Amino acid sequence: MRAETSLKRRLLIWLLLPLTGIVTLVLIQAYTSAVRTADRTHDTLLAASSLIIAERIQWQDGQLWLDLPESALKIISGPDQERVFYQITQSNGERLTGNATLPLPGDKALSEPGNNVFFYNGQLHGMPLRLALRHAYITTWDQSRPYDIIVAQTRHTRNQLAHTLFEGSLLRTVILAVLTLLGIRLALGIALRPLTRLRQAIRQRQPNDLSPLTLNLPHELDELVNTLNSLLKDQATSLKRMQRFIADAAHQLRTPLAGLQARAELALRKTQPEDWYAALQILQHNAMRTTRLSNQLLALSRVAPDTATPHTLCDLTQLARQSVMDDQDRALEQHIDLGFEGNRSACWVTGNEWQLEALLNNLLDNALNYCPPHSRINVSLSCEEDYIRLSVEDDGPGVPAESYPHLFERFYRAASADTQGCGLGLAIVATIAQSHGAEYQCRPGIDGQGFAVDITFQRSSPTSAGFQD
Ligand SMILES: Nc1ncnc2c1ncn2[C@@H]1O[C@H](COP(=O)(O)OP(=O)(O)OP(=O)(O)O)[C@@H](O)[C@H]1O
Ligand SMILES: [Mg+2]
Repeated sequence: MRAETSLKRRLLIWLLLPLTGIVTLVLIQAYTSAVRTADRTHDTLLAASSLIIAERIQWQDGQLWLDLPESALKIISGPDQERVFYQITQSNGERLTGNATLPLPGDKALSEPGNNVFFYNGQLHGMPLRLALRHAYITTWDQSRPYDIIVAQTRHTRNQLAHTLFEGSLLRTVILAVLTLLGIRLALGIALRPLTRLRQAIRQRQPNDLSPLTLNLPHELDELVNTLNSLLKDQATSLKRMQRFIADAAHQLRTPLAGLQARAELALRKTQPEDWYAALQILQHNAMRTTRLSNQLLALSRVAPDTATPHTLCDLTQLARQSVMDDQDRALEQHIDLGFEGNRSACWVTGNEWQLEALLNNLLDNALNYCPPHSRINVSLSCEEDYIRLSVEDDGPGVPAESYPHLFERFYRAASADTQGCGLGLAIVATIAQSHGAEYQCRPGIDGQGFAVDITFQRSSPTSAGFQD
């Protein structure tokens, strides 16, 4: 199975995308939170350090004076011996003392609530620092003098703490993501199990088993199962029709073939040439009937509703006129007046040309077969706005009205028919009409005499299909 056609894989990908997004957001949040927690913890120590320094500042000889022994600095450096820097400035920004020149806070410096200490990040000779600025006062007998203490600490310890905190979150998040992924895989497997059952049920079917699928499946698959069942039903109908057709065809062909064989055997037992000649004439006649039967059977099988035939725009006027012209010689021979009635302009229908020709030929063949000399046959075409009616009428012997309901059935021949035929012509006409969405009916013919068949087609527009009249 190709990767892009696997439903499971597609679902997994579409679930993984949001999961990856969520995991990324959670990790970003965990990292910022770890850094913030580490800062908060160490900022308290930094604030305390600034307080230690503040307590060591004195006012002597009219100026600020700091006595910070090495031991005090060691306490401030903490157990991890971070590098510590400090600086004292007057309120006017003038640097008084310190062990480094430290950056001043920008706008982003944060103050602890209720405290005079501001925390901010900065750098000293490319070394990242965390700094705390404390506003303090020293009170002498005559006035209170403001000054600022800035204490800075390298970030090594707090970075380590942040990493330790983040590593814990990372591990938890990765375990959670893996468990979620396994859960999704398991859930997908369970959710897609009905599809697997459906696939197995179809795969295990025998080719001739066209009964509907009766599986207990989730309702989301109802439509698919219903479609499959309707396809199976169509297949079953088509198979039955085909089996019936083959049985009918075999039955119909057996009779004339048996007749041919019997006639030939009988003739072989004769000794006189005139007997042979008579037998050969009958044999030729029977052979012609059998050929006609096999041709009609073939035509019926080719126009069966299951066979897919391409439909295009066809000009019915042209097809009808051509059929009349083709049968003109035969009509003249039989002294029959065959004519076409209808205007010369094109009448378009959507259909299959050779099927429409077969329909016209069968109707004309019937009229010419069953009408005696000096009859009239009229092919007419009336093109209305929405529909086109094709009629083939004659004033021949006609068909008894009680036979009308059966005329379009296969192998039906009216009792009045004394000519040879196999009863398939009108069945072919009906099948072709049906596959063209046309309506068909029979009625008495010219002047209420004889027989007529009307076929009503839906009219098509040549312009809509890009054709010009
Ligand atoms: N124009 C007609 N005039 C009189 N009877 C007709 C006419 N057209 C059809 N019929 C009757 O309808 C019957 C059915 O016609 P259909 O064309 O189906 O079969 P067929 O002509 O007997 O055989 P074939 O399959 O060779 O055409 C005919 O046997 C005939 O009795
Ligand atoms: Mg016929």
